[in-house]
Amino acid sequence: MPAMLNIVQTASPPPLASFSGVALDFGARRVLNRLDLEIGHREVVCVIGPTGCGKTTLLRLLTGLLKPTEGMVMRNGEPVAGPAADVAIVFQDYARALLPWRTVAGNISLALEAGQVPRSERQQRIDVLLRKVGLSAHAEKYPGQLSGGMQQRVQIARALAQEPKLLLMDEPFGALDAMTRQGLQDEMLKLVIESGTSMLFITHDLDEAIYLGDRIVALRTGPKPDQSSVARVFDVNLPRPRDQLATREQPRFLELRRAAFSFIQEGGA
Ligand SMILES: Nc1ncnc2c1ncn2[C@@H]1O[C@H](COP(=O)(O)OP(=O)(O)O)[C@@H](O)[C@H]1O
Ligand SMILES: [Mg+2]
Repeated sequence: MPAMLNIVQTASPPPLASFSGVALDFGARRVLNRLDLEIGHREVVCVIGPTGCGKTTLLRLLTGLLKPTEGMVMRNGEPVAGPAADVAIVFQDYARALLPWRTVAGNISLALEAGQVPRSERQQRIDVLLRKVGLSAHAEKYPGQLSGGMQQRVQIARALAQEPKLLLMDEPFGALDAMTRQGLQDEMLKLVIESGTSMLFITHDLDEAIYLGDRIVALRTGPKPDQSSVARVFDVNLPRPRDQLATREQPRFLELRRAAFSFIQEGGA
């Protein structure tokens, strides 16, 4: 008996999310293979890889909207059964993600309505969220009246309204200009770290992955039957908080950049 108690006491909590031995086929085509990956509590994991390698598919597996062909996708040690309120998604295509006939406040309210937050509490929650993403002055505007960066902030606020444990970001800043993008990277990191949320962040941009991530997972296209979709994992090991100038000038940043670029150029991913 004492031995058993010991096991219970020392067992670490399950990771926030995990893939073990996951494969995913679309028809006869295997998109993901032998995928093992854990996302820890308060961890930022970035996923990179060429178009079509299965990044969005990996994210959809975590939402439970897609089931693996083989293996297990788990959250908090339980198999993912379907969409959960504590998992929020931000898409690249903000124009299609927002309802054009609802105001900024109305779009954020959607998440609160879905979460059955009482009407009397919604306004205050919306105000706090708008402040967090710097849109307090734009609550009554419609998405079409906002810049791309602002629309993306609305989507982020709507995702945060869910108070997620896990934020899934699918190339969220891919359509934005470089300055807007850097601003949003910093806002996102601040919000994620403040709220203790974990984030799976998909990006095409290697520099963005290094800047944001604790770990970078590089996926390969068309894995052979005995190959894993995960071509390489990079541990970032850069201090937080990060800074657009200082972080990007650090030897560790440059070292990672060189390693990841040459890995991709050599056809590793
Ligand atoms: N619902 C689907 N049915 C059939 N094939 C799909 C489906 N979704 C994605 N695919 C294919 O699976 C591959 C991986 O897609 P995706 O995960 O969207 O790639 P990525 O996000 O890395 O660009 C692509 O070749 C894509 O065409
Ligand atoms: Mg994609």
